This record gives sequence, structure tokens and C-alpha cells, in this order.
Amino acid sequence: MSVMSAIWNPPTRTALVCTAFGLGLLLGGCERPPVEAVQTGYRGIAMAEVINPRDDAAKYAKNQVPVSLPAAPADGPAASSVYQNIQVLKDLNVAQFTRVMLAITQWVAPPDQSCNYCHGNNMASDDKYTKVVARRMLQMVRHINSDWTSHVAKTGVTCYTCHRGNAVPQNVWFINPGESSTSGLIAGNAGKNKPNSVAGLSALPYDPYTPFLLGDKNIRVIANDALPGGDRSSIKQTDYTYALMISMSQALGVNCVYCHNSRSFAVWDASTPKRTTAWYGIRMTRDLNNGYLVPLTTTFPAHRLGVLGDVAKVNCSTCHQGVFKPLYGESMAKDYPELVGELHPVAAAPAPADVVPVGRLYFEVDKSEKWSEGDDSLVAVVEYLKSHDAAKAAISGYHDASGNAQRNLQLAKARAILVRKALVSDGIPAARVLLDKPMESTGSGDPRDARRVEVTVQP
Ligand code: HEC
Ligand code: HEC
Ligand code: HEC
Ligand code: HEC
Repeated sequence: MSVMSAIWNPPTRTALVCTAFGLGLLLGGCERPPVEAVQTGYRGIAMAEVINPRDDAAKYAKNQVPVSLPAAPADGPAASSVYQNIQVLKDLNVAQFTRVMLAITQWVAPPDQSCNYCHGNNMASDDKYTKVVARRMLQMVRHINSDWTSHVAKTGVTCYTCHRGNAVPQNVWFINPGESSTSGLIAGNAGKNKPNSVAGLSALPYDPYTPFLLGDKNIRVIANDALPGGDRSSIKQTDYTYALMISMSQALGVNCVYCHNSRSFAVWDASTPKRTTAWYGIRMTRDLNNGYLVPLTTTFPAHRLGVLGDVAKVNCSTCHQGVFKPLYGESMAKDYPELVGELHPVAAAPAPADVVPVGRLYFEVDKSEKWSEGDDSLVAVVEYLKSHDAAKAAISGYHDASGNAQRNLQLAKARAILVRKALVSDGIPAARVLLDKPMESTGSGDPRDARRVEVTVQP
């Protein structure tokens, strides 16, 4: 009997059909091929992105940038001299201002409302809340583009990055109060054990945004000390951290090894540079929520607020929308210099003759032996101290928010001592150079600004 006829005899055929059907059932939940893997790290270390070209093509089509409006001539009367109520775009001329109005109408206003979405008959009036929100958004966009280049680089953002032609961006979040649970032993579930899309249908907490993108809870799973003590790393914190990580991966359409090396999720040296960008992204998102959206809460009508009365907020997907760089890294901001920063910055007022100087010296990560080259603000401090015999200098050391708390305190102190030595060796009597331990030694601002020593002069 030939092989063919063996396969085609009835009992074998039934078995084959059953197997095929079973396989179909098994694979029903999987993605239809082709599925490709692209290696992103050295061979053999399992750093790869899984890509399905079919899904990618759809995503690509959805994330194209609209054609930019023609550039505006640089000269012409200032908008603020022609219009009555210009509070933010004071640096623009009329042509540039009109261009911004046209662009935001395209990017944000519902097509049937056009300018009327933000304006009534009197263009100068602020009685529509949408105009008041839009004004703050103009400031927010300039702030992102000029102060958060650590995250958005030169690519920057425009209103379109989040809004994409919608009045309310498609991806925003509200504080999720969860379901009311029974009282008793199992009362608080910490937002867990309910499959939820935020955390990739896992049973992890469904609101990792409130602690991390509104609050500034530590995103940690690994304790720095062997024994419980001051270290607050807990299982709960771990759950929340993983929920955030899953939501971040989804927002960017990547997997964990886009940022981490799975050998150690915590170690920065082994992580990809993208993790650093993401670190800034977390801080930026927090800043946007607390600095811009939350303060607008009372400006919004009630129907725009969440069940707890909170305002719609930003997370990674508000900008990224499933892509590793919003709009695949295509820069719209480069065509809209009006939204990148002030176009004609007002010249800084000349310094008064006897201004009291402040010294700020910045340090590299984990370093206290020397401050960054080019930081010469100490020169003015020394000069001032030499010409004012009664003046004293107070020196405070700071560290950034990452790393071991104990080590950080040592670093902050060592940095302060280094600067004190420098002042003394420049001829300032030690009695006039005081170490001033700050209440909170974690410096503010982004980590590069945080790792610093401040020298304030007491005249
Ligand atoms: C998404 C909201 C929004 C839309 C849509 C919009 N504007 Fe505006 N408009 C503003 C804001 C905000 C200001 C104030 C800007 C500032 O304070 O710097 C403003 C100010 C103005 C002013 C100055 C009025 C004055 O005397 O102070 C004019 C004129 C104007 N817009 C025209 C338009 C036109 C024309 C359109 C439609 C093509 C339009 N705007 C669409 C938000 C909007
Ligand atoms: C980082 C993301 C982001 C960017 C960039 C952004 N917005 Fe928004 N915008 C939001 C969020 C979040 C809300 C709150 C959603 C809501 O209305 O409840 C919002 C709301 C608004 C609203 C109120 C909408 C409504 O109907 O309630 C207006 C108007 C608006 N934005 C204008 C702008 C303009 C103009 C720009 C560009 C200068 C801009 N936005 C840039 C995130 C963004
Ligand atoms: C877009 C980049 C990015 C992706 C994708 C990402 N992470 Fe993270 N991860 C970070 C950053 C940034 C931190 C540090 C956050 C901080 O310190 O504020 C972090 C921290 C962590 C930590 C805490 C480490 C410690 O010090 O205790 C763990 C664990 C972790 N990530 C796991 C994961 C897992 C699992 C995934 C995939 C589901 C993932 N991450 C996806 C960027 C990323
Ligand atoms: C205001 C909009 C905005 C928000 C919110 C935002 N990002 Fe981004 N992100 C950008 C832009 C723009 C870029 C592109 C910068 C560039 O071209 O290098 C970017 C780039 C990145 C990159 C680098 C990707 C690469 O391939 O190099 C990572 C990683 C990233 N973002 C993670 C995050 C995470 C995580 C969050 C949320 C915690 C977040 N972003 C929130 C706008 C945003």
C-alpha cells in the first residue's frame, strides 16, 4: 500500500481532520502569521522585539503627520498690538499668530465648529472654557518643547501629538476608584485581581497611574537592604511597578527588553538608553499632570471630569498611541517654531551692580570628586565674599532621586565638603564658609539639575 492511500484510508483521514480542528482551536488565540522577531541586543541574550508586519502597516497608516501650513513671514505688526487679549503668544506677529489659530483649529476643534469651538462673537472674550484650556495648553506645549528635551529631544510635540483632530485626546486617564468591595478581611484589594486592560489583562492593580504619574512613589521592586527596616519596597509596590511597566510597554507597542536587559531589570548599565529616555518621560508626564491638567480641574465643565471629579490626565499613550516614538519620530514641531518657545525672547534685565551671587555646581552620577567642567558660578561667589567682609556662604549638597538613600546622603555631603574646600583654598576664611545640611537632600528638577551643590551668600 502506498503512503498516499494509507493517509487517505477513512480512519486516518478522520484522525487528521480531528487533529487539524484541534490545532485550529489551540491556535485560535494566537496571532495570524507572519510574526517576526527583530534582535535588538547581542546574539543569544534574548533581546528582541516581536513584530507583526500586518499590524505594523495599519499602525503606520494611522500615525502619519498632516501636511504643515505654509510658514508665516517673520515680519509684521505684533499680534499683541493688534488684538486685545493676548496673554501667551505675545512674541508672535499677526501672521504667525493667525497661523497658530488655523493650526490648532485643524488639530483640536471638531470640524463642524471650527473657530467657534473656542470663540464666540467677541474673539477677545474668555467666556468659553475651551479657550482658557487652549491658552494653558499653548504654554504646556512650549514648556514640553523647551524644557523637556531630555525626553522629546528636538522632535518635540504639537497639539496634534495628543489630540489628532479630537477635542479630547483618545488616550487619557482618570483616577479609577475601582469597585466598592465588601468590608471584612478581604476588603481592600489594592486594585488587584480584576483583569484589566491597563495592565495587559493581568490581575495586577488597575490604576498604576495615580501613584506614579500623579504621585511620585518609588518605582521599585528590589529592596536595597537585606532586612526590612526603613526600606519600603513591598509586594504591593512591586505589583504596582509591574502594572506600570506593562502599561508603558503597551503605550509604546514594545516589550520589556526594549528598555531592559532581562538579566537584571534594575541595573541601569545593562539597560538600553531608551530606559533613560523613559525615566525622563515618567517625570515629564508627572509634571504635565500636576503642573497643567490638575490646576485646570475647575475650568472644565462637570461632564468632562471623572467619577471622582478629577480632570482627564496624560499618560504615555496620550502622546505615543502605541508607537515607540509618537508619529514614528516625525517632527511636526520643527515646522511650528511658534510652539517651540518664545520667538523673540525679551532680553533679560541688566543685573544691578551689587547683586548677591548664587553658586550652583553640578555633578555626574555617583561622583563627588569634581563638579562638571564649565561650572564657574563659584567665581562670582568668591569675588563677592572677598569684597564683603561680613558676608558668609552657606553650602548645601544635593543628590538625584535614584539609587541608594544612604549612599546618596554621603554623596550630597561629600559634594558640599568639596565646594567648601575650594572656597577656603581660594582664600575665604573657613569660619565664613558654613555647611548647611538641607532638610530634603533630594534635589529638585531633572536628575542632572538635582545632583548639585548650592552656595547661597548671606550678605
Ligand atoms: C482650541 C481653541 C482655539 C481655536 C479653535 C481658535 N482659537 Fe483663537 N484664540 C485661542 C486662544 C487660547 C487665544 C488667546 C491666545 C493668548 O492668550 O496668547 C485666542 C485668541 C484669538 C484672537 C485674539 C483676540 C483678541 O482680541 O485678543 C483672535 C483674533 C483669534 N483667536 C482668532 C481665531 C480664529 C480666526 C480662529 C479660527 C481659524 C481661532 N481663533 C480658533 C484659542 C483658539
Ligand atoms: C500632552 C498631551 C496634550 C497636548 C500636547 C495638548 N493637549 Fe489639549 N488636552 C490634553 C488633555 C489630557 C486634555 C483633557 C481632556 C478633556 O477635555 O477632558 C486636553 C484638553 C484640551 C481642550 C479642552 C477640550 C474639551 O472639549 O474639553 C482644548 C481646547 C485643548 N486641549 C487644546 C489644546 C491645544 C490648542 C493644544 C496645543 C497648543 C493642546 N491642547 C495640546 C492633552 C494635550
Ligand atoms: C519604555 C521603557 C520601559 C519598558 C518598555 C519597561 N520598563 Fe521597566 N523600567 C523602566 C524605567 C525607566 C524604570 C525605572 C523607573 C524609575 O526609577 O522611575 C523601570 C523599572 C523597572 C523595574 C524596577 C527595578 C528596580 O529598581 O526595582 C522593574 C522590575 C521593571 N522595570 C520591569 C519591567 C517589565 C517586567 C517590563 C515589561 C512588562 C518593563 N519593565 C518594561 C523602563 C521600562
Ligand atoms: C508629551 C508627549 C509625550 C509623553 C506624555 C510621553 N512621551 Fe515618550 N516621547 C515623546 C517624543 C516626542 C519622543 C521622541 C523623541 C525623539 O525623537 O528622540 C519620545 C520618545 C520616547 C522614547 C524613546 C524611544 C526610542 O526608540 O528612542 C521612550 C522610551 C519613551 N518616549 C517612553 C515614554 C514613556 C515610558 C512615557 C510615559 C511615562 C512617555 N514616553 C510619555 C513624547 C512623549
